[in-house]
Amino acid sequence: LYRAKAPTSLPSFLVLGPSGSGKTSLVTLFESGKPSPTHISQAPSTVQVHLPSTTRAGSSQYRSENDPTLKQEKPLQLIDTPGHGKLRHYAREYLQDPPPGLKGIIFVIDAANVSSDSSSSANETLQDAAEYLHDILLLLQKRYTSAKTSKGPKELPVLIAANKLDLFTALPAPLLKGKLEQEISRVRDARAKGLMAAGMGEEGSEERDWLGEGGESKFEFRMMEEVNCPVKVVGGNVLGAEGSDVDGWWGWIAGWL
Ligand code: GTP
Ligand code: MG
Repeated sequence: LYRAKAPTSLPSFLVLGPSGSGKTSLVTLFESGKPSPTHISQAPSTVQVHLPSTTRAGSSQYRSENDPTLKQEKPLQLIDTPGHGKLRHYAREYLQDPPPGLKGIIFVIDAANVSSDSSSSANETLQDAAEYLHDILLLLQKRYTSAKTSKGPKELPVLIAANKLDLFTALPAPLLKGKLEQEISRVRDARAKGLMAAGMGEEGSEERDWLGEGGESKFEFRMMEEVNCPVKVVGGNVLGAEGSDVDGWWGWIAGWL
């Protein structure tokens, strides 16, 4: 059953990314301390989680070690969305009409299913992830460029969680970052060509859907800072023979609270 957004303004993070990347596993791990077996998600679900007491929220980093408020667990919400290609409208709807407490976006990617050879054609998983990510970043860019106020909308950070680093085929976060930038550039060029062919995006239509800075340069995540969306790629794993490694992601979340 799909319920409308809960009418609360708890700090919340929207979790999205391709199907099978580990979103529901991550959300259940954060919720209960252990990941539950998952099925393909068919609808969004919102869970309440607590920042572990070992991780410090950005807003309390100057408090003294003995400050009792540090011991209180900070509640926040994670909104898990389905990643299947036909169900991504849920995530887009959340972005178009964000819940009041939305603090950031967590885009989960399966870093073990991205071929690491340097051949020019990326595998399908990477292509699909790059297309999805391109479209989300473009939405975030439009949110900024179409803002009515001169100040623009408030900062909305994006975490790219490179998941499944427990698997030996996984690409480390810095390499995945480069691959994604390359593949997003390709998606962008292909989209622009498609529009040209359709007789759109010609001279005069300055409002073309071009992600990042104009010109021929390759897309880089740092360009998103211009539109108030700092992007960070951080590795980790929800599952694994040696347990999970999610400290980097908690650390990122904590920095925006
Ligand atoms: P959709 O709901 O279809 O969008 O997928 P999802 O992103 O929610 O993926 P889900 O959490 O259901 O995980 C997909 C599969 O990946 C499951 O079989 C998980 O057990 C597995 N998985 C998730 N995280 C990890 C990880 O860190 N390491 C390994 N080895 N497997 C993982
Ligand atoms: Mg899921």
